[in-house]
Amino acid sequence: MSDVKILGIESSCDETAAAVVVNGREVLSNVIYSQVPTHTLYGGVVPEIASRQHVEKINQVIRKALSDADTRLEDLDAIAVTYGPGLVGPLLVGVGAAKAIAYAKNIPLVGVNHIEGHISANYVDNKELVPPFMCLVASGGHSHIVMVKDYGEYEIVGRTHDDAAGEAFDKVARAIGLGYPGGPKVDKIAREGNPHAIEFPRAVVDGCPYDFSFSGLKSAVLNYLNGAEMKHEEINKADVAASFQQAVIDVLTDHTIRAAKDHGMKQVALAGGVAANSGLREALKEAAEANGMKYYNPSMILCTDNGAMIASAGYFEYMKGVRSDITLNANPNLKIGER
Ligand code: KG4
Ligand code: ZN
Repeated sequence: MSDVKILGIESSCDETAAAVVVNGREVLSNVIYSQVPTHTLYGGVVPEIASRQHVEKINQVIRKALSDADTRLEDLDAIAVTYGPGLVGPLLVGVGAAKAIAYAKNIPLVGVNHIEGHISANYVDNKELVPPFMCLVASGGHSHIVMVKDYGEYEIVGRTHDDAAGEAFDKVARAIGLGYPGGPKVDKIAREGNPHAIEFPRAVVDGCPYDFSFSGLKSAVLNYLNGAEMKHEEINKADVAASFQQAVIDVLTDHTIRAAKDHGMKQVALAGGVAANSGLREALKEAAEANGMKYYNPSMILCTDNGAMIASAGYFEYMKGVRSDITLNANPNLKIGER
């Protein structure tokens, strides 16, 4: 069978990204324009500014992805684009660009779920990974344990009842004065701290052994900081970061391995922005291997938002015959496995 070349477009949050990927696994180009420096000024993503920057950058990013891949629009088999979940304004920019090109050049269009994209990043960096596997997806907006039964076939096994893991990282980082985005900053400073210095809670959700709740942990960190301030005690930021991070890692790892075991999975994968966390990567790998399971994660650059993961997820949808048309719209609340 001849190769299938797909342009993937991503604009759901604060990265404007496009990539060309062959057969869902081989990356020919991967262009990411990060708006992080802009949003850092405001301590978080400002949706209106994000939309505007996507509009300014999207054509440039797509053009560069095509030229880096030495590919013309005519060479593409399909265009895959994130249509949800995410911020509606930013999503509309990518969807609009993809529809315009697909319509003008008569190229098949495939709408892709952002979370399914994160999971698919694993196919790009792990050529031998074939479903079924259990995947922990932890990003700024989502924390799920997803059973990947087959390509493009998902069952949510665990979910968060309140904050996403990345959101907890961002909020704690702000509280200890590290700024936005919090994840990488907490990760870095945690390496100098003692993860057992402060005993923060590991929350479980009654009756839902694979689910998460991070709001209690976040409050515990804030209470600890307020308590120290009232007593005029100096806090050790590295110890707070390390102890908080350890509490998140313990819960994420524990629930994922339990879910994998209970569902008879022999493979475990990690995905989403929080998958870039060095402590989490190590802990999940160690726990998976101790339980006789194979462990996978994407390279750092494919953990956070990018176009290659969208092209990969789009490829498996395309092969199943999924096509979107000119009526494709942004869906900010799109669920995994939903179309
Ligand atoms: O997947 P992503 O780029 O965007 C969403 O889809 O949300 O994830 C961004 C999230 C942010 O909350 C960020 O703080 C977190 O991923 N993150 C990390 C690390 N790098 C990014 N969290 C912990 N450790 C990291 N090294
Ligand atoms: Zn993401």
